[in-house]
Formats: sequence, structure tokens, C-alpha cells
Amino acid sequence: MDIEHGAKLEDIPELIKLHRYGEELLEANRSQFLTDPIIITDEQLKGDFMEWLEDPDIGFFVARENGNLAGFALAMVVEEPDDLINIPYVSINELAVGKEFQGFGIGTALMKRVEDWALENGINIVQLNVWEFNQKAKTLYEKLGFKTIQCQMEKVLDKR
Ligand SMILES: CC(C)(COP(=O)(O)OP(=O)(O)OC[C@H]1O[C@@H](n2cnc3c(N)ncnc32)[C@H](O)[C@@H]1OP(=O)(O)O)[C@@H](O)C(=O)NCCC(=O)NCCS
Repeated sequence: MDIEHGAKLEDIPELIKLHRYGEELLEANRSQFLTDPIIITDEQLKGDFMEWLEDPDIGFFVARENGNLAGFALAMVVEEPDDLINIPYVSINELAVGKEFQGFGIGTALMKRVEDWALENGINIVQLNVWEFNQKAKTLYEKLGFKTIQCQMEKVLDKR
């Protein structure tokens, strides 16, 4: 397996499929607190991916297995001042590995590449958000040493 910095334009259809996979998971576990999903067309997503791939502040990494796109990670440097948060830090906004490629260490390798990228940029704080239902991803992050610093709770009441 190879991890590459950046992706090719012809990778975009496969990247869109991987992104949709994350959306499907959320849809299957949707909490009542969340609004219905906003439908983003493939064409809009293609434009987003093209922008992300060109942005120097975005760390975009793909994993290839025998030439096939197996997964990707998207991270960005956050530098905007915030009263609560120490800046700068690296935020991991997306991580996805194709179903047939899961369980072989690709997610771990992508995460480690993002950590290296953060350090290459002189940054040693990395953060991400993960849904509580996503046990697989939580286990992966905890194995890598991530710790929960905030937790959002909800309760759905019976209406009167
Ligand atoms: C989360 C995800 C990226 C993991 O990718 P992966 O390539 O399978 O991960 P790895 O093979 O590196 O596995 C790393 C660890 O994850 C955990 N893990 C992997 N598959 C698991 C499973 N089926 N059940 C529970 N934990 C699992 C294990 O702790 C594993 O470590 P181990 O092999 O030492 O036991 C992948 O499942 C995925 O793309 N999921 C859908 C998108 C998503 O949820 N992204 C994260 C959004 S926050």
C-alpha cells in the first residue's frame, strides 16, 4: 500500500464514492437532533474536491492498493484565533477507507501520514470530531492516542 500526498483529477469519482460512504453511515444512525441531510450533488462535490486538492493549507492524502484508490484523509491547518482553543492546530475533516480495503491498516497509515504532515508544518496538536455511534473509528483514534475532550449529549423527550 502507498500513501500519496494529493490526488489526481481522475481520482475524484472514487473520492466522491468514499465521501458518500461516510454520509450513508450518518444517515443510518441519524439522531433526531440533526436536520435532514442537505443534498449535495456529485457535480458540487467534484468542485469541492478540486478546490481542496489545490489548497496549500489542506493536507490531502490518498492510499493506493495495487494502483486502486483505497482511502483518503483530508486535514487542514486552523489558524483563526479563538477564545477557547490554542492555535494553530490541524483538524482532520475526513477519513474514509473503502469497505473492501478495511481492516488492513490503511486508516491507521493515513492517520499517521496526517500526523507527520502536522509536524512537518511545525504543529503538534491534531483534533477531529467523531460520532458516538462510530465505534470503529473511535477505536482507531483511541489506539493512535487520541483522547476525548468534549462530548455532546441529547435526550429525546416524549411529547405531551
Ligand atoms: C474508520 C475507518 C477509516 C477505519 O479504516 P481501516 O483501514 O479499516 O482501519 P485499520 O485497518 O487501520 O484499523 C485500525 C483499528 O480500527 C479498529 N477497527 C477496524 N475495523 C474494525 C471493526 N470492524 N470493528 C471495530 N474496530 C475496528 C481496530 O481497532 C483497528 O485496529 P487493529 O487492527 O489493531 O485491531 C473505516 O472503517 C471507514 O472508512 N469507515 C467509514 C468512514 C468513517 O467512519 N470515517 C471516520 C469518520 S470520523
